[in-house]
Amino acid sequence: MLVTDSIGELRSAVRLWKREKLKVGFVPTMGALHEGHLALIREAKKQAGRVVVSIYVNPFQFAPGEDYEEYPRDLAKDLLLCRNAGAAAVFTPDNELMYPGESYLTVEIEELSEEMCGRSRPGFFNGVVRVVNKFFNIVEPDVAVFGQKDLQQYRIIEQMVREFNHGIRLICAGIVREDDGLACSSRNLYLSDEQRRLAPSLYRSLLYITEQIEGGVYKPGLLISHQRSELEAKGFQIDYLGTYSYDLLQPADILEKGHKYLLAGAVWLGETRLIDNMILTDELTREKARPSGKRAKIFRR
Ligand code: PAJ
Repeated sequence: MLVTDSIGELRSAVRLWKREKLKVGFVPTMGALHEGHLALIREAKKQAGRVVVSIYVNPFQFAPGEDYEEYPRDLAKDLLLCRNAGAAAVFTPDNELMYPGESYLTVEIEELSEEMCGRSRPGFFNGVVRVVNKFFNIVEPDVAVFGQKDLQQYRIIEQMVREFNHGIRLICAGIVREDDGLACSSRNLYLSDEQRRLAPSLYRSLLYITEQIEGGVYKPGLLISHQRSELEAKGFQIDYLGTYSYDLLQPADILEKGHKYLLAGAVWLGETRLIDNMILTDELTREKARPSGKRAKIFRR
């Protein structure tokens, strides 16, 4: 496995693979790798002969006062995990390499970032788009894999690829969870034992709301405010919890047949911010556990 912090070296390797007619897959990460990241690498491996993983904690997606300094970093362990998951190269740039000299250009996101995480983390998605755009130009992959865990991020990158003609096929891989349902996250490492015990309640609330929607609820507002209160009573602070249209990521109070929505939430447990979501479609694609053959009778007909 090639481990490099040189753009030139990475590009030479990628170009060699392409000359050998191998497809190149790409999985960008900020390290502190867990099963969620490894599932993306394995998915990329299914799609492409060679997989490049980047490990880089991008300062431009952290606001002042957020956890840029504390963000967990363990390169030696991450490299071992990448190797075992089948990566062919790991790109480990530093800030000097990614952002040399002055920058006079930024990309504006005009839609898609007003609600959900964009509302409470202004500038966050500009930072994500900026770095992913650079990575796409450096790696020039055929296919890139992102996680549904950060669905707003995926949706914005999907739009970026479409509008800027990146010519990269995107894959959104499902959320990998711990046994108790908590979505795997590098930030779970911040949780105390007590918080870790509480943390899966967010997933359970999303699951409960989704089940009610499957059962026929198409105006989930009251249901959601009830779950919000339950979470607050347990000690969570709610950043947002609601249903949103998939295309525009705007709040959706009524779920209409034939449209795609997501049920998404972000909560604070002490200093730690947790996010999770479920995709809602006419034939709910929620989790793999859904018994086959059973159709959801959901949404207004
Ligand atoms: P990071 O949080 O390290 O996540 C890297 C990728 O792993 C993202 O696509 C994310 O959605 C996915 N991921 C994280 N937890 C997951 C889980 N439990 N199940 C499935 N996929 C999961 O997202 C970023 O880094 C950064 O914003 C980045 C894209 C690297 C740009 O800096």
